[in-house]
Amino acid sequence: MGSGIAQVAALAGFKTIQFDVNADMLAKSKTGIEKNLQWLLDKQKIGIEQQLQCLQNIQFTNRLEDCKADIIIEAIVEKKEAKTGLFNQLALINSSNTIYATNTSSIAVTGIANGLQHPQQVIGMHFFNPAPVMKLVEVIKTEQTDNAVVEAVTQLAIAMGKTPVVCKDAPGFIVNRVARHYYLEAMKLVEEGLATIETVDAVMESTGFKMGPFRLMDLIGMDINFGVSNIVWEALAKPERLRPSILQKQKVDAGELGRKTGKGFYEYQ
Ligand SMILES: NC(=O)c1ccc[n+]([C@@H]2O[C@H](COP(=O)([O-])OP(=O)(O)OC[C@H]3O[C@@H](n4cnc5c(N)ncnc54)[C@H](O)[C@@H]3O)[C@@H](O)[C@H]2O)c1
Repeated sequence: MGSGIAQVAALAGFKTIQFDVNADMLAKSKTGIEKNLQWLLDKQKIGIEQQLQCLQNIQFTNRLEDCKADIIIEAIVEKKEAKTGLFNQLALINSSNTIYATNTSSIAVTGIANGLQHPQQVIGMHFFNPAPVMKLVEVIKTEQTDNAVVEAVTQLAIAMGKTPVVCKDAPGFIVNRVARHYYLEAMKLVEEGLATIETVDAVMESTGFKMGPFRLMDLIGMDINFGVSNIVWEALAKPERLRPSILQKQKVDAGELGRKTGKGFYEYQ
């Protein structure tokens, strides 16, 4: 997600710093962005100047001390402590006006904000996968978020060519709350032997969904999607209708995380 968000920001003309602790992931991100830009150029969706400017706009780094910015968009592992830990480290080198936006899919933004010195500067900025393609951005405002921060992030999303929707900080926000059933009911059908993975996907795609639930879980990443299911289920006091799936847990335990590991519900080259 970080790579896609960096691409969108840089293509929109913002000076962008992409930071990752993992040098291999940074290299993969750079190659991926170069490939995407070449595809956009070939399809005449961007010009050569935009392609070059975009690449010039991004600095790839694994040095935290390089990460000084007006707005920081965090897209690391889906763990609250990791997110607050990173924001607290960044707060030591950034100004008191810096905005801390999290791309979390399901962690309460209020909980992240409470772990920081400037909770009024914390907001959710939830992009969808793939970030360069999907238009929606959920802007998640907590009780403490400063209105100027909501406005700045909303304007940033618009400048990035996205469609921002301001949401309250509730479990799963809007999309991930509604979409839980798309995944969970699909897995129940398969667990109960009532339909195959391929059939469910084919049927849902034929009704107009861009991706069937299993193909979509493979794109999102099984660990991320299963993590979201658990967080939403626990935050809503564990209702039976939202109980996470055993089938998906088995995939996570087996390391079959989807496209990123080459195998999930389907296999990838
Ligand atoms: N996958 C999706 O479809 C999707 C969609 C919307 C939001 N999100 C959210 O985006 C975030 C990232 O998800 P992802 O699917 O891109 O995960 P991912 O596992 O593909 O990537 C996470 C990246 O963060 C890096 N990282 C881990 N800890 C770090 C740290 N302390 N500092 C810097 N980098 C660190 C890892 O090296 C890795 O490159 C999560 O919060 C997730 O909920 C994911």
